[in-house]
Amino acid sequence: MTTVTYGSCIRYTDAMLYSSHALRRSVGMIRNTAHGWGALARQAHWLMAALILGQVVLGKYAEALDRTPQKISLLMWHKSLGITLLLLALLRLGWALANPRPTLPPDTPPWRRHAVRLSHGMLYGLMLAIPISGWLYNSARNIPLSLFRLIPWPPLMEPDEALAPRLGDWHEGLVMALLVLVTLHAGAALWHHFHQRDSVLLRMLFDRTRT
Ligand code: HEM
Ligand code: HEM
Repeated sequence: MTTVTYGSCIRYTDAMLYSSHALRRSVGMIRNTAHGWGALARQAHWLMAALILGQVVLGKYAEALDRTPQKISLLMWHKSLGITLLLLALLRLGWALANPRPTLPPDTPPWRRHAVRLSHGMLYGLMLAIPISGWLYNSARNIPLSLFRLIPWPPLMEPDEALAPRLGDWHEGLVMALLVLVTLHAGAALWHHFHQRDSVLLRMLFDRTRT
């Protein structure tokens, strides 16, 4: 590398080279590779899994309460968080489509590869369909919605008292389907880890993008 003259400029160039290298390294880690899930996919996965399971508990708890101000307040949080999760699911789906998917262990039979693709697709479908059904249910019941009491949120359909109970049943049914699928999904992850002893669970927990 050139030295001596313009010492301060050289220091500046070094810093630029260092930061561009660091940036490339960190961008590499943010994106998925054929080996592992990038930081964004991993963090979004665990954050959303925790929030979705929290949403289920909140929804069940609020639904069981009598019509009190506490119920109305909890449902405001439930609906606001639910719409936030819908927006996050859309962003995450866009990111998943724009990234490579880590390959499965080479000995994975074709039927299991199909099952993984199908189950991931269904998980995305449910992450979208559940909040949309809740939004439709709320709209059909003609209940005004304001996200976190800050942002007025539009209804998705005209009020429809006759259809509303069925939309409520759909909301509940889709959540049940998600719980069954997540149980199988988490079971499969644990099976990979403890029975197959491969890195499928570890690469969703830690950075394995370069190995
Ligand atoms: C990931 C997102 C969501 C999940 C996991 C979820 C889950 C649940 C669950 C488990 C229940 C209780 C159902 C039952 O046992 O009958 C429920 C009820 C409900 N949810 Fe959601 N929900 C989500 C998003 C939303 C959204 C976005 C809205 C509206 C904008 C919404 C509106 C409602 C309403 C109005 C109820 C019924 C409460 C009642 O009748 O007392 N949910 N939800
Ligand atoms: C509401 C709960 C959950 C949802 C909605 C969910 C959804 C997903 C989705 C959509 C993927 C595909 C990767 C992506 O595009 O991000 C995935 C991958 C994965 N999930 Fe989950 N997940 C949930 C809970 C769990 C739990 C509890 C575990 C483990 C105990 C787990 C372990 C994994 C693993 C290991 C992968 C990577 C699979 C591979 O490399 O092929 N997930 N999950």
